[in-house]
Amino acid sequence: MSEKVYDVSADWAGRAHIDAAKYGAMYEASMRDPEAFWAEHGRRIDWMKPYTRVKNTHFGPGDVSIRWFEDGTTNVSHNCVDRHLETRGDQVAIIWEGDDPSESKKITYRELHSEVCRWANVLRNRGVERGDRVTLYLPMIPEAAYAMLACARLGAVHSIVFGGFSPDSLAGRIEDCASKMVITADEGLRGGRKVPLKANVDAAIERVGGVDHVVVVRRTGGAVAMTPGRDVYYDEAAAMVTDECPAVEMNAEDPLFILYTSGSTGKPKGVLHTTAGYLVWASFTHQYVFDYHEGDIYWCTADVGWVTGHSYIVYGPLANGATTLMFEGIPTYPSISRFWDVVDKHGVNIFYTAPTAIRSLMGAGEDPVKRTSRKSLRLLGSVGEPINPEAWEWYHRVVGEGRCPIVDTWWQTETGGILISPLPGATKLKPGSATLPLPGVKPMIVDAEGKELTGAAEGNLCIADSWPGQMRTVYGDHERFVQTYFSTYPGKYFTGDGCRRDADGYYWITGRVDDVINVSGHRMGTAEVESALVAHPKVSEAAVVGYPHDIKGQGIYAYVTLMAGETPSDDLRKELVAWVRREIGPIASPDLIQFAPGLPKTRSGKIMRRILRKIAEDEFGALGDTSTLADPAVVDDLITNRQNKR
Ligand code: WT7
Repeated sequence: MSEKVYDVSADWAGRAHIDAAKYGAMYEASMRDPEAFWAEHGRRIDWMKPYTRVKNTHFGPGDVSIRWFEDGTTNVSHNCVDRHLETRGDQVAIIWEGDDPSESKKITYRELHSEVCRWANVLRNRGVERGDRVTLYLPMIPEAAYAMLACARLGAVHSIVFGGFSPDSLAGRIEDCASKMVITADEGLRGGRKVPLKANVDAAIERVGGVDHVVVVRRTGGAVAMTPGRDVYYDEAAAMVTDECPAVEMNAEDPLFILYTSGSTGKPKGVLHTTAGYLVWASFTHQYVFDYHEGDIYWCTADVGWVTGHSYIVYGPLANGATTLMFEGIPTYPSISRFWDVVDKHGVNIFYTAPTAIRSLMGAGEDPVKRTSRKSLRLLGSVGEPINPEAWEWYHRVVGEGRCPIVDTWWQTETGGILISPLPGATKLKPGSATLPLPGVKPMIVDAEGKELTGAAEGNLCIADSWPGQMRTVYGDHERFVQTYFSTYPGKYFTGDGCRRDADGYYWITGRVDDVINVSGHRMGTAEVESALVAHPKVSEAAVVGYPHDIKGQGIYAYVTLMAGETPSDDLRKELVAWVRREIGPIASPDLIQFAPGLPKTRSGKIMRRILRKIAEDEFGALGDTSTLADPAVVDDLITNRQNKR
């Protein structure tokens, strides 16, 4: 672990919203009296009817229910759009930077209002009402934000599916929340390559019924099949409606969106976030973690298909009246300097990306960075996976030229927004540590039995009490919510992450302790990849684990047992990779496939993943006790045939 400490500069401490003393006072106040603390900070958004009740949350055992500001009413779209019209109608809300550097545009708050209203009218004309679920399968174009805010305006619940997921994955998500409408584009464009979004939607709808309307944004203008009566081009529908549409008064606890995420078992679960608590949290954390000030140009490089895009491209920044940059492309197209070219082109002050991007750019050396100015940059952020100290130092020294603090933000789809992170004017930085909890967040490290460990300690990370941005349930399956998050350590929210706390009280996230792997900041359930593999006719059994990967953080390592009579070959390996891509999507492609005549199982038939993980990690000496295996000899075979890392 890195021992280096970076102090807060006097400059930062003086200018930031929160310095060290203020952080201490806020944190203490939030722990002493959460009701009073959030009664005050809940007012950062506009309310139609103010709340009188602030916190009503229960982590069990028994009742698990989470309600914040429960008798208040508001509307998220009003807060992200309408309330800015008077003060900053002509300020840019969204800077859109296309995949092709010659394409970009700026949308003011006034234009955003007009677009969102028009979108809402198009949706409403097709029967979308409060509470209905709408699936979005879109590229990174402003229409994604318009459609999200249009749903929020009507009280409809959006479910965004990342454009890299396959028709099958999309179908499963449409079906789970019974969406009657899908919003997509003809094609997406990333790194100069086209993504057949509309064709994927057609294939998905062939597998599930119930979709009455498909709204298609023209992005590339490519020819796509349109089913009469079901499909409509957005521009044609929009020409028939006005750009005025009132925002519906929503209860604080009405659902805002569902976002599917992988767990350690079963199919992805629909994480449900509600209206007011989520928005308060997204806006509070966006302001303080990024020390956002009026006029700043802010860029988060995530995709809106992930929670980072929801909270820190759309909802947090727009609730704060910020200028948020939305990027359609990838860091390496048309050149490896693209991120920094975009920073210079738009004068970006705050830049938020993932460690995997930093590591891959690091591989190309300093020249592609140094050829750009980056003088507008003031703050850098990291999210999605642990950032190794080497990548941190490079980000700090080369990208930020030593002058920009790095906020390493730890959070999850479930948490709605950042929970553990430095505040740039308050927190000394240690490369590789997410540092300290934000006000309102009470982390707890527990041992395997659930006993709280105090002081410097390492164990599993729980959160002891609720915060406003917390997920409320698994859509349609509250029991799964309770089981997944509140049963391992009754009465506490279990994050699934391992964590160390050092003598300064700093938190160091060590990675998942369950069967979830983190590939390039994307979360993947090993069980999902396994079930895709065993669906292949030549596969009899599969076990999937993560292994350390230089760029991706973790890679996907699959042990595959073939059906009797099938022969291992490189062609079959390729066939299986293509199969998984088709079943789940490219992000689930196994990096390494090892054909294994047998898997290490206990006498009761349970696969011992601990052993498979160690072999994938090249830690042959640390296999532990193998005497309980039904056939200990399979381990020798697995070691002999270990696939080489790429
Ligand atoms: C998992 C959540 C947070 C939004 C994007 C990912 C890992 C996330 C960090 C960080 C170490 C991190 C955790 C977490 N993670 N941020 N700064 N340091 N690990 O959201 O897909 O829900 O994944 O990502 O393991 O549990 P997600």
